Amino acid sequence: NVRLGIISALHEEQEGLVEAMQGPATLIHGMRNYASGQVAGIDAVCVLSRIGKVAAAMTATTLVEKYGVTHILFTGVAGAGDAGVKVGDIVVAESLVQYDMDASPLFPRFEVPLTGLSHFQSDLHMSQRIASAATDFLDKDFETVIDDAERAEFALERPRVHRGLIASGDQFISKRAHLAQLTGSLPGLLAVEMEGAAVAQVCFELGIPFAVIRTISDNANEEAATDFMRFVKSVASRYAFHIVTRFCAD
Ligand code: ADE
Repeated sequence: NVRLGIISALHEEQEGLVEAMQGPATLIHGMRNYASGQVAGIDAVCVLSRIGKVAAAMTATTLVEKYGVTHILFTGVAGAGDAGVKVGDIVVAESLVQYDMDASPLFPRFEVPLTGLSHFQSDLHMSQRIASAATDFLDKDFETVIDDAERAEFALERPRVHRGLIASGDQFISKRAHLAQLTGSLPGLLAVEMEGAAVAQVCFELGIPFAVIRTISDNANEEAATDFMRFVKSVASRYAFHIVTRFCAD
């Protein structure tokens, strides 16, 4: 019996989903509201983690241990980690790394001590399904859901879905040099954010299948803060709502 935990860091990344839930009930624990009900016929619990790895780890753990979810989906925005990944594109994680983990020389850089792992794999089946929901959204709903003015504002031309490496850390990346340093040490990096790899570690340790999907809000450069604010305020929630609803309905 599937019970899906849906996490976003911020309200704007999950807006509309709780309102669209059938039979929602709110449970409060550890300063967060867990909304439980059905999304497109699937038992689900929606929650906002707030920002950062500890917040995300706490939220994922609570979803599993207290609210009995069997699967976790994280949806939100991220900074682009590669020149081929544009604002408005979607990145589905194949694996996730905590880029600020460094216990060297005791353990290799990025390795989470005593797990033997630096890269945590997402669930292939869930990731395939969320990627195809994202592709369907872009192919079928995008033109009606995001209007001409918005497409012009964010220069959204033919957004694409990418799959690969996402890196998480407790830093908002807003300097080109900082991003360059990360891309230099993490081959295949597609996006940077602040929660995904923490959820990945928790799910690995608890044996819970999970997926992470991120819409690119900025280029993790000097303009990142302004771009992020504008993107999150306007189109981020519609991406998430339509993709997650399609994912649950399929
Ligand atoms: N989430 C969205 N944009 C980000 C950035 N530039 N750095 C970290 N997390 C982000």
